[in-house]
Amino acid sequence: MDYTKEYKKKTPQSAKIFAKSSKLHVNGVSHNIRFYEPYPFVVKKSSGKNLIDVDNNKYTDYWMGHWSLILGHGQKNVKDALKKQLEKSWMYGTVNEQTILLSELIAKAVPVAEKIRYVTSGTEATMYAVRLARSVTERKIIAKIDGGWHGYTSDLLKSVNWPFSESESSGVLNEEKIVSIPYNNLEESIVILKKHANDLAGVIIEPVLGGGGCIPADSDYLKGIQEFCKKNNSLFILDEIVTGFRFRYGCVYPTMKLDPDIVTLGKIVGGGMTIGVMCGKKEIMEYADTTGKKKSERSYVGGGTFSANPTSMTSGFATLSVLKNNKSIHSTINSLGDYARKELSKVFDGKVIITGKGSLFMTHFVKDGITEITNATQASKCDTNALHDYHFKMIAHDGIFFLPGKLGAISSIHTKQDIKKMILSTEDYLN
Ligand SMILES: Cc1ncc(COP(=O)(O)O)c(C=O)c1O
Repeated sequence: MDYTKEYKKKTPQSAKIFAKSSKLHVNGVSHNIRFYEPYPFVVKKSSGKNLIDVDNNKYTDYWMGHWSLILGHGQKNVKDALKKQLEKSWMYGTVNEQTILLSELIAKAVPVAEKIRYVTSGTEATMYAVRLARSVTERKIIAKIDGGWHGYTSDLLKSVNWPFSESESSGVLNEEKIVSIPYNNLEESIVILKKHANDLAGVIIEPVLGGGGCIPADSDYLKGIQEFCKKNNSLFILDEIVTGFRFRYGCVYPTMKLDPDIVTLGKIVGGGMTIGVMCGKKEIMEYADTTGKKKSERSYVGGGTFSANPTSMTSGFATLSVLKNNKSIHSTINSLGDYARKELSKVFDGKVIITGKGSLFMTHFVKDGITEITNATQASKCDTNALHDYHFKMIAHDGIFFLPGKLGAISSIHTKQDIKKMILSTEDYLN
């Protein structure tokens, strides 16, 4: 079946509008990963589990706003709260109570969040986390994971995509201050960290490698890295921008008995509005305090015209409130994730490895003798073109949307029936 032909046939308006977009925007998009061949469909609205494009095609969405919409699109409580806020206005540029409400929820659910700073993207949050670590330790090197994605900050734009040894971009300075270690390989990681120990400001890690292949970390691995950091007076930074409030009401790190110095959050805690959060232990976060400190003593990390704007704070508060008051949401979506992984593995019958945790899952088409996926190197050696084809078939033929090549997220509005539909589409793809 020619899925490109089928896709083009059902998306003529998208083709027209995207051609206009391409004239105005580089690649037609503003986030690189949103482009796929022959052109991405153009969304006119979204609701619940669905995206609706300008040709009125409906797609069951597993991309869910870069995985930020754990309650689905346009969830009622969030929408009602936002409507009320819009009546009052949407941008103050001053201190507001909505921020305090959200912070009270975060501080309670994320014990390490003794102090909090809001920004408007995850990228800014990790950029600040790195600066803070350098200020606190008076050191320069930051270690990250091969395949770790922390946003577009130049401070962490290294070893993101295979081959990890190649620069990700021209224009990035001081790449030698970013060191990369292999995920879930404690021995090799420690060897590398030791080489840089004297100037190691911190290590930043995701507890589930998201962009790098939806790969959970071994808790012993994270404990080992944390132990090294503590002994070496380097900061242990957990990037929970994807994982925070994704699997439980709170972060992953307490379930592994970890004690990070700084945690970054984003996505879900903004309820679909723009957000990034840097939080951590008081004694560390207070380096950001500008009152009465000389420039050389402080870490200058609080800016952003739209930081802590009342709309993001409101949608974040409404989203966390729904999660807090409906404890079954996490258990339900986590078990739907288990179901999806199990059924997909069965259908693919050894052709793929399905990675993930709870409501996040990703399909890797194995090749070159890969038998397990515990790090981004193994994930990168899988057949990414096959994954694109598979996702594209679902878009073109079955109205199911995964951003091609990316992991899928189950939200509270997905049902077992939706997963079954995806399994049927997969069977059809394989036949
Ligand atoms: C783990 C992680 N950190 C940071 C970011 C960057 O967040 P943002 O896209 O909001 O800048 C992302 C984005 O996907 C992410 O997955």
